[in-house]
Amino acid sequence: MDTVVNILVRSHSGLRWIVLALLIAAIFNATMKKKSGIYSEGDRKLNLFAMIFMHIQLLIGLVLYFTSSKVSFEYMFESSLNRFYGLEHVFGMILAIILVTVGHSKSKRAEDPAKKHKTIFIAYIFALILIVASIPWPFRNLGGSWF
Ligand code: HEM
Repeated sequence: MDTVVNILVRSHSGLRWIVLALLIAAIFNATMKKKSGIYSEGDRKLNLFAMIFMHIQLLIGLVLYFTSSKVSFEYMFESSLNRFYGLEHVFGMILAIILVTVGHSKSKRAEDPAKKHKTIFIAYIFALILIVASIPWPFRNLGGSWF
C-alpha cells in the first residue's frame, strides 16, 4: 500500500509541471491568437489537454486525500501542515479545476473565435494563479518537493 501511495505522490508531484506548462502555453496561445479571427483544431487540442491533465491531478489527488499521512481528519486544525493538505490545497485546486472546466465549456459554446480565445485566457489565467498559490513549493516548508 505504501509503495502505491508513494508512486501516486511522485506522479502527482511530477504532473504539476505538465499542468503548469500546458496552462502557460494555452494562455500564451490565447493571447497571441485573440485577434487572428481563427480558432484552429490545434488551439482546441491545447486547451483540452490542459483541462484533461488537471482532471488527472484531481483523480490522483482524491485518492491521496484519503490515503496520505499528511491528511488527518481528526487533527485537521492542529497543525499548519494538516490544515494545508486537508483544506487549503484541495480547496484552491478544486476551484482552479472548476474554473478551467467551466471556461473550457463556455469557450466551446462560443461562436466567435475572439470570444473563444478570450474566455480561455480569463479562466486559465485565474486558475494558474490559484494553482501556483496552492502548490506546496519546497520553500514553504510543507513537506513538498520540486519533482
Ligand atoms: C492541478 C491540480 C493539482 C496540483 C498541480 C497539485 C500539486 C501537488 C503537489 C506539487 C504536491 C506535493 C507533492 C510532493 O512534492 O510531495 C501535492 C500533494 C498533495 N495533493 Fe495535490 N495537486 C493538485 C490537486 C489536488 C487535489 C484536487 C487534491 C485532493 C482532492 C490533492 C491532494 C493532495 C494531497 C493529499 C497531497 C499530499 C500527498 C502526500 O505527500 O502524502 N491535490 N499536490
